[in-house]
Amino acid sequence: MKLVLTSLLLVSLVLSSSFLQYSATADPPQPPVAPGPAGYCDVKCGERCGKAGYMKRCLKYCGICCQECKCVPSGTYGNKSECPCYKDKLNSKGEPKCP
Ligand SMILES: *[C@@H]1O[C@H](CO)[C@@H](O)[C@H](O)[C@H]1NC(C)=O
Repeated sequence: MKLVLTSLLLVSLVLSSSFLQYSATADPPQPPVAPGPAGYCDVKCGERCGKAGYMKRCLKYCGICCQECKCVPSGTYGNKSECPCYKDKLNSKGEPKCP
């Protein structure tokens, strides 16, 4: 009788531990969407390009500039003095590169 109880206990231990393992792999904890550098650029460029005619292009260049400068001026245009690096970036034609 004692042996049966012991083996039952063992089985339930094994079962519960494998169940715990299963549920851990089935439902991995989501990494928090922290306000990291990437999130910052996404948010700021989304604001910056919110009214842009060529939104895709705006987001692309804004993203590049944001990654390099670590800042994006506020508002949908202007305000570039908030971010001199952003203001001073030029494309190959010598035009302002950042929206
Ligand atoms: C400059 O930024 C401010 C917010 O800081 C905003 O209210 C304003 O509209 C922006 N200027 C332009 C020209 O978008």
